[in-house]
Amino acid sequence: MKNLFTALLFSFLVYNANAQQSGIPLIPQPSQLTLGKSSLKISGQTTIVLPKEKAHQTLVNHFREQLSAILNTNIKTNTPLSKNSISFVIKKNLSKEAYQLDVTKNNVVISASEPAGWFYGWQTFMQMLRLKLEKGKEAFLTEVSIKDEPKFGWRGLMIDVSRHFFGKEVLKRYIDQMAKYKFNVLHLHLTDNQGWRLEIKQLPKLTSVGAWRVPRTGYWSGMPAPEPEEKATYGGYYSQEDIKDLVAYAKQRFIDIVPEIDLPGHSLAFVASYPEISCTKTPQQVLAGDPWNAKRTNVVCVGNDSTYAKIDQIITEIAEIFPSKYIHIGGDEVTRNYWSNCPVCQNRITIEGLKNVDELQSYFVNRVAKMVIAKGKTPIGWYETLEKGLDSNIVQMSWKDEKGAVKSSNEGKKVILTPAFLTYLDFYQGDPYLENAPFTVNRLSNSYKFNPLPAGINVKNVLGGQGSLWTEQVPNERKLQFMTWPRGLTLSENLWSTAPKLNWPDFFNRIEAHLPLLTADSTNYSGYFYDAIISAKKGQNDEVVLNIDTEIPGLAVYYSFDDTDPDQFYPKYNGQALAIPKGAKNIRVVSYKDAVQKSRIVRLPIAELKKRAKL
Ligand code: ACM
Ligand code: ZN
Repeated sequence: MKNLFTALLFSFLVYNANAQQSGIPLIPQPSQLTLGKSSLKISGQTTIVLPKEKAHQTLVNHFREQLSAILNTNIKTNTPLSKNSISFVIKKNLSKEAYQLDVTKNNVVISASEPAGWFYGWQTFMQMLRLKLEKGKEAFLTEVSIKDEPKFGWRGLMIDVSRHFFGKEVLKRYIDQMAKYKFNVLHLHLTDNQGWRLEIKQLPKLTSVGAWRVPRTGYWSGMPAPEPEEKATYGGYYSQEDIKDLVAYAKQRFIDIVPEIDLPGHSLAFVASYPEISCTKTPQQVLAGDPWNAKRTNVVCVGNDSTYAKIDQIITEIAEIFPSKYIHIGGDEVTRNYWSNCPVCQNRITIEGLKNVDELQSYFVNRVAKMVIAKGKTPIGWYETLEKGLDSNIVQMSWKDEKGAVKSSNEGKKVILTPAFLTYLDFYQGDPYLENAPFTVNRLSNSYKFNPLPAGINVKNVLGGQGSLWTEQVPNERKLQFMTWPRGLTLSENLWSTAPKLNWPDFFNRIEAHLPLLTADSTNYSGYFYDAIISAKKGQNDEVVLNIDTEIPGLAVYYSFDDTDPDQFYPKYNGQALAIPKGAKNIRVVSYKDAVQKSRIVRLPIAELKKRAKL
């Protein structure tokens, strides 16, 4: 009753802009948040009430351990609704994954129709606590009633574990961080030209050969190809036992691990293990860099029945070890000219009455999709599997843009959106001159623009979306984290939150509140959003003219042309175009907020800027 009274009294605050600003900077924003006036102290005196069911006790004990760790104490259990306790209640009328979190001056109650909802309610509670934590031992939480549910059922992150391998323990730490922001799918890109990462017992060479490549360091582009007799010493793979362990770990955190086997292209590791499945049948080495300019067969022969026999063995084992409803079968970026020159593939075109190699790709994808369906699973394919003549049971993962998702959803296909220009996590976050990252840019503010429901989409066919982290230039765990966060926060918001979308500066304030939490978790993140952004254009007299911008408001930018490091006593950029002084070799810029240095010093050569201005 007290709760109801509080809810009524303060209901005018719900989604009033002021409430959002004076409220709690949660990510993702909950659907409804109603603040009260009093508060509750959470500390070593707080207790947790274990639910009656044994299975639920395991989960809540896990919560108790987390709370004990955060408060540096040993949280005790208690009886229902005792003072200063945290209880978990079943409320049947709440939808799957939804929860209600009530903090009153007496206690905390998390309600849900099933444990997944408790889990998400718990994440919200832990954020509130950590955002207010004092002296590592207590927090005063404002009275609040939160009602929340996700916008989408697929809230994913993808890791490419082929280009660089990340062991089981790295993935567990990644899963821990995903869970805090209510992600529920970890898509593993398990195979590519640079490594096969999954034990398949019937095909042991996939891992004895395919999981290993020559070691290389540095820039992916132009990476030296393997020498003919060079030892392949870099790599690794997940044993089937590893996968079972990982799957169980993820399940405890309500995360589904979705496996991807990328076929028929991106298959050099497969071909290197079993050269007989390629059109040329020539021996191959697993690559460190890209295959595009090398004479490498990275595509399987889709005319040959023995290729399908091996794929069936692979899918059979995958279906047994991954409980996920989904198996991703790839389908992207296939160089089809191998098939044009292969008599076996040409023969398949004739037998099946196909017109050309494009239809042969559809034939292949349909045939493999049927194998997946025969195992009781749902196939997922990349954008290229959109092509004509394809089975509508394939879920479309739309990566090139949003148009593919719009088209497929209106053809009755289920879609998952990961449009590259908004959600790819391999794209660089700062100036490319300073970053070893491939392809193009996806700054933090840009990633916030991702809308999983673009104009024209058939909403009922959208499963959700994901961020996708290709790892060509992600050689270690710290970089894996750096590329994921804080862009992962914008993904979390866009995939979970049903609240009205905040404007960018307001959402950025939330991001800023979460950075210390990432640090406390020893999770690396990019701070390049603080960098001043220098742009160069050609002036009226063919000189270079520079402008400086920032992606977040309220930064003061200081600069130098004399090859000394600027600070807040240097010339301040005033919004006007800058001319380059005679003799200057570099510009250096730095940003400050409230007299505190926020960015690194960005140094760009004038020669580089001239190039950008096409001079
Ligand atoms: C992709 O980026 N090739 C799916
Ligand atoms: Zn062939």
